[in-house]
Amino acid sequence: SILYYDDAFPGLFAAIGLSLIGYWATSVAISKTKDVFFSRGFKGRDLLKNKPEPIPESLGLPTAAVYMGLLFLLIPFRYFSSRLQGVYKTGDDWEGRMDGRGGFPHHELATFLSALLSFLSAIVLGFLDDVFDIRWRYKLPIPIISSIPLLTVYYAGGGGTSVVVPGWPGVLRRWIGSSILELGPLYYLYMSLLSTFCTNSINIIAGINGVEVGQAIVISLSLCLNSLLYLDSRAGMPGSRSSKELLRRHLLSLYLLLPLTAVCCALFSWNRYPARVFVGDTFCYFAGMVFSTVGILGHFSKTVLLFFVPQIFNFLLSCPQLFGLVPNPRHRVPRYHAETNCVYPSIQYFGSGDVEADKQLTNTSSRPLRPASTISTLVLKLLAALHLVQLDFYDKYHRRIKSTTNLTILNAILVLRGVHHLPDSTTHTKPFKGPHITEYGLWLHTMVLQVAGSCLAFAIRYWLAGIVFP
Ligand code: UD1
Ligand code: MG
Repeated sequence: SILYYDDAFPGLFAAIGLSLIGYWATSVAISKTKDVFFSRGFKGRDLLKNKPEPIPESLGLPTAAVYMGLLFLLIPFRYFSSRLQGVYKTGDDWEGRMDGRGGFPHHELATFLSALLSFLSAIVLGFLDDVFDIRWRYKLPIPIISSIPLLTVYYAGGGGTSVVVPGWPGVLRRWIGSSILELGPLYYLYMSLLSTFCTNSINIIAGINGVEVGQAIVISLSLCLNSLLYLDSRAGMPGSRSSKELLRRHLLSLYLLLPLTAVCCALFSWNRYPARVFVGDTFCYFAGMVFSTVGILGHFSKTVLLFFVPQIFNFLLSCPQLFGLVPNPRHRVPRYHAETNCVYPSIQYFGSGDVEADKQLTNTSSRPLRPASTISTLVLKLLAALHLVQLDFYDKYHRRIKSTTNLTILNAILVLRGVHHLPDSTTHTKPFKGPHITEYGLWLHTMVLQVAGSCLAFAIRYWLAGIVFP
């Protein structure tokens, strides 16, 4: 297996070197292009600051461009060193013998190219979203379709479509009748949905400085560590086909993730609190697509999902708003209060039945407020019992909901920490009782959760899995 290392490790060293260059190149690219973005109208007001001047937006685009450049440059380093003729001296390279063209890793190159294709599609979609604010109904299916090349490569690579049934509690295996459940096409459906989930779930934990890039960095580092653990644990094993394949897949994941981590770190230095640039939807879609692609092509798409625990939580929490049970405004970010320089949960009002009184309450919306339906009331009361939302009521019996805090993880963190939403009047200047959290503090909370999520993922992957899947 040393021979295989000879072949693949130059790629790894090149990936490390290119990542270092990538960090520097991204910083330069952002500093040189941010004013151009600004002057072409790519700018946004920082909602959680006191200053009215906008700052440049969509700087995820130069970041993604540098990343793509790095991957293009990686190809010759990785593949020109591959032998074109003859099988390996150990004679156990199945691929080389099968296609009769020597040791050149055609399949791996196809894998790599299909990854580039899916990244490009995500970058285009993200940038179009920055320009046109695409509707949800169009945004959602696009990543599903653009994952088809990945799925084809997965199929060609002999990718499995079965899941192991947990051995504990024992009744599950008895019930299904086997320890392996063959999902077939459903597994492909799952993988294509993973692309659309990863791209959108990063985008909806957004709105405070550094949070989009921060979560991407934590996920990326976690996946790198996961792959490094594989390299380490498989290195000493005898060169069976399966261990070689595993090594190959985890090396590929490192080729893709190391440069991503580097460009994200550079972008972060511009986007962290107080932000000098915004990342835009381009970045969110692009980063999400890299994670889902790495999961699919590395044949560990279930593991990838483990590192998205906060995103899954945020998505589930958001569902009542995304699917129309609760009004969904353009922005759901926490609200800023200039006098205290702190952030507070933002809220949504429900109608009281009296249209004129409702108009005074919000004094902005021309649309009449809807009263909370029975099912919304039930769902919101359940969430309130879990301390994920704060409710106000019109009546003292707590029957008719007046307002709820927005259903995002950022607001939920504030609610859990006991930060109360602001009183109705915006001109309130007295300092509030109870805990205060600044934008930076909220960012820290979110990152701690993301890191805790990764620790949980490792625990599940390496410890719990051993118990449940003996
Ligand atoms: C998503 C969220 C939305 C959230 C928004 C914030 C859902 C369904 N959508 O919408 O609730 O308000 O992201 O990004 O959950 N901004 C800041 N500070 C930041 C980052 C962004 O103030 O650190 C503001 C800027 O005004 C920027 C705008 O958010 O211009 C970008 O919003 P955009 O990415 O277009 O929002 P969506 O992705 O549609
Ligand atoms: Mg966005």
